[in-house]
This record gives sequence, C-alpha cells and structure tokens, in this order.
Amino acid sequence: MLEITLSRLRREAEALRQNPLEVLLRWGQESPAWEVKLPFQRVYLLFAPEAVEAVLLSRGVTKETFQYRALGRLTGPGLLVSDGEKWRESRRLLNPPFSSKHRQAWQTRFSHIAEAFFDSWQAGEARDLEAGMMALSLQFLGEAFWGHPLEENLTETVIAALDHLVKGMQDPLLALNPRRYWRWRRLKKRLSEAAHLLAQHPTLAKLPPAQARAEALTLLIAGHETLGSALTWSLYLLSHHPHYFANVAEDYTWAQLVFHEALRLYPPAWIITRRLRQPLSLGQVQLRPGSLVILSPYITHRLSFPDGEAFQPERFLTERAEPSGRYFPFGLGPRLCIGRDMSLIEGPVALQAFAQRFRLEPLPDPGLWPSVTLRTRNGLPARLLKTTPD
Ligand code: HEM
Repeated sequence: MLEITLSRLRREAEALRQNPLEVLLRWGQESPAWEVKLPFQRVYLLFAPEAVEAVLLSRGVTKETFQYRALGRLTGPGLLVSDGEKWRESRRLLNPPFSSKHRQAWQTRFSHIAEAFFDSWQAGEARDLEAGMMALSLQFLGEAFWGHPLEENLTETVIAALDHLVKGMQDPLLALNPRRYWRWRRLKKRLSEAAHLLAQHPTLAKLPPAQARAEALTLLIAGHETLGSALTWSLYLLSHHPHYFANVAEDYTWAQLVFHEALRLYPPAWIITRRLRQPLSLGQVQLRPGSLVILSPYITHRLSFPDGEAFQPERFLTERAEPSGRYFPFGLGPRLCIGRDMSLIEGPVALQAFAQRFRLEPLPDPGLWPSVTLRTRNGLPARLLKTTPD
C-alpha cells in the first residue's frame, strides 16, 4: 500500500476538485491501494477487486461517512444511509416490491412506457438526451413502485437538491451565502411535501410516518438519477458505436449487453464509501478501525477488465455481469442495490425502444461531472436521426 502524503494531497487538491475521476484513475494506475494519514482520520482508497470484496462483504463496516451523511440530509434516515437493525427492518419490508419475481410484469409495463415516451419524439428534433432520460427514469419509477406517473417537476427538484449537496461538499465556503440557504430551505420544503404524498403506499404505510417519508424520498433519490445517468451514457456510447443500434433494435440480448457495458464504463454510483467498525485484514495489511474507505467502480471497472477503457459490449457474452469486486455498478453484498433487477430491465427496454425509432450521430464529449451520480457538465444535446436514411 502506498501513502499519499499531505503535501501531495495539497498539490493535487485543485485537480481533485476539478476532475476527481481523472486523478483517481491516475492514482489507481500507480497503485491498487493508497493510504492517506489525515490528522483526524485514516483514509484508504482501494481499487483492487479483492479489496472491494473484503470491504463490501464485511460485517464490520458502516455507512457513517461524509457521502451518506450528506445524502441523509436529503432523505432522512432511510434504507440507503441507515445501518444495523433499522436498516435490516426497512430492507425486509421493502424487498418484496423489488423482487425479481415481478420481472415479466415489469418487462411488459416498461415496454409500454418506453414506447409511448419515444413515440412522442420525432426524427429531426433536437433534444437534450440527459433531460429526456431523467424524465423517462422518473416515469418508470413512478409506475413501478407507486403505480402512477410522478409529477414531472420532481426531476428538477431532486436534481437541484443533489447538486446543492455536492457543490456544498466541493466548496464549504458556499455555506456562507444566505441565498443558498434559502434555496436549500425551498428545495427541502418541496421534497418534504412530495414525501408526504409518496409515503401513501401500502408497503410504506406499515412504517411509522417519519420512517415512511424517509423511505419514500430514498427510493425517489436512489432510483431516479441513477437510471437516468446510465441511460444517458448508454446513448452517448451508442452514438460513437452506431453499428450497435441495429443489434439493440432487433435483439433484446444486445440491449442488455450494451447496458452492462455502459454501466461498466460509466457506473452512475461512481464512488462508494464505508467506515470500518473493526480492523480489516487485506493480505498482510491491517486497516485500522474508524478509518474511511473509498471505493470507486469507475476506477476498478476500467483497470480490472482487459482493454478496460474500450466499449466492447460483447465482452459480457463471456464475462459474468453478476455483482463482484471487479464489476459492481449496483454495489455488492448485503447493501446491494434493491433496484438492481428492476433497473436491468428498465435500461435495456428503454435502449431498445430508442433504437427501434432513432439513430444518433457521434455526439461531442459532454464532459463528466461526478456529482452524486455521473452526470454530464451541461446536458447531452443531440439531433434525432431516422432509423433508415431516406
Ligand atoms: C442504473 C440504476 C442504478 C444504479 C447504478 C444503482 C446503484 C446503486 C449502488 C451502487 C448501491 C449501493 C451503494 C452502497 O453500497 O453504498 C445502491 C443502493 C440502493 N439503491 Fe440503487 N441503483 C440504481 C437503481 C436503483 C433503483 C431503480 C432503485 C429503487 C427504485 C434503487 C434504490 C436503491 C436503494 C434503496 C439502495 C440502498 C440499499 C440498501 O442499502 O439496502 N436503486 N444502488
């Protein structure tokens, strides 16, 4: 394990703030494990698949980290951020509506939604694909869990609230700006009004009201931008590899392969953190209890697959797309994403419905903005082309 000294950290601080993924990838290429001895805590950056497994499968880790503290300010103490018995109870209660036994029903329902959604788009139009994919993702989520579409302006509110959190983490001095404070209050108020309505769900109604609202917001926040991001980057990648469009349009298996490969190259949850409650052994090295561990599927996926930076959907004909320390876009172990099975249908169904109607020219690089999920810097503007030339 190498050490990132405080002077190196200081030197790289600005680059890390501007472009964390580039810096992390460079560090990952240098060493699979790093230790940072901050004055108040140890931080470990672990990129090797075995280390990822050791952390995510360990019982001695918690979510008491900066990442989940920030998300918890938005959701309240819901499934994504809680630990221990409280988490176990909520997970047990929420598992059934997300069970893979609904696969067939989801497939039919999501196909109808995606087809109606893209039927309202026309070849020749210019669209922001990121905004579009966020809107479609919200429709899927509403129909799948609440049985009806959710208010469209929720997309804006959720994204504005997540961006507010991330910008605050990147630049703590922003907290001194009173306008920001009032904006945050307005966003929280809108979300809490939405939570009241969304908590009216037969499963959530079994929880005490405050817990039901936290779980409703958790599902909204965890299940919306993630899928929207995955679909946005899938379309961006397809635009640069247009020969896959016809495969995706014709064959659902190809839509699945493309979606897995997009999740490998652009995993929406690009960073996953844990706090060690107990010492953790990694080979010869003992990680100290109390330390913060940072994992990044973005880095591990790119470094631990052959030709890891290349878009090669067919690799998943032979590679397993099951959660592992090498491929963990949905996490791994007990805290595996509850929406994984659902997303693995939403994604390919949406891509297939798109490819059956449109093509894209190679799109300019929209720039990566690693917010709570992997976003573009300014949207993904595109002109929709016909599937076949005139
Ligand atoms: C492409 C789409 C998605 C991606 C990439 C994704 C990714 C993830 C990841 C990486 C985690 C684990 C975080 C950790 O271990 O710290 C997670 C957890 C979670 N996700 Fe997802 N997610 C997606 C879609 C969804 C959907 C559709 C829902 C719900 C409707 C959802 C709800 C949750 C919840 C509630 C958790 C916390 C589970 C627990 O701790 O028990 N996600 N997700």
